[in-house]
Amino acid sequence: MKSIVILISGRGSNLRAIVESGLQVGAVISNVADAAGLDFARARGIATEVVEHRAFLSREAFDAELAAAIERHAPGIVTLAGFMRILTDGFVRRYEGRLINIHPSLLPAYPGLYTHRRALEDGVKIHGCTVHFVTPRLDHGPIIVQAAVPVLPGDTEEALAARVLRQEHRIYPLALRWFTEDRLVIENGIVRVMGQDASQSILSDQ
Ligand code: GRF
Repeated sequence: MKSIVILISGRGSNLRAIVESGLQVGAVISNVADAAGLDFARARGIATEVVEHRAFLSREAFDAELAAAIERHAPGIVTLAGFMRILTDGFVRRYEGRLINIHPSLLPAYPGLYTHRRALEDGVKIHGCTVHFVTPRLDHGPIIVQAAVPVLPGDTEEALAARVLRQEHRIYPLALRWFTEDRLVIENGIVRVMGQDASQSILSDQ
């Protein structure tokens, strides 16, 4: 099975969902030394590394060290799970096609930060999350799977975030399993999943 290297910056709940789904995680790398996700990984006996971005003078230097750390674990897939650094084009190109991210909105709506707040401010009635291949343009790569949730009257940012997060924990392991099984095909920027029972949209009423 393709080994997964997971990059995190904090809590690590998606990391946890991926590990608990039974996928083989080779290493967890964080740019923040006290990221809670590192403790979870260590407790599970998963290799961890810390590459602190503050120790580097440029994005290029940080990304070079990050890539060196990743390569020590011979990854088949590199996944971003709450990794809060913008990666250089060079880094993205190096891993293009096996670099995957989860984003807390229904892309192409709400790329960037504060997605739940912006969705509430716009009064949208459907929100959600997206797993996608990473390309140099931030939050714009080919979409693998999305989950939609309702926006409910009286929702706070926290309530909406929690509803979306539950779906993140469903779709990220699903997308990564498809990838490890070589079932994802990209044609003209559109991702298709080969095989039966592979709906790329999940509609949640929770
Ligand atoms: C998730 O909402 C993810 O979509 C976003 O950052 C958050 C990370 O949460 N990119 P966690 O660290 O996986 O709990």
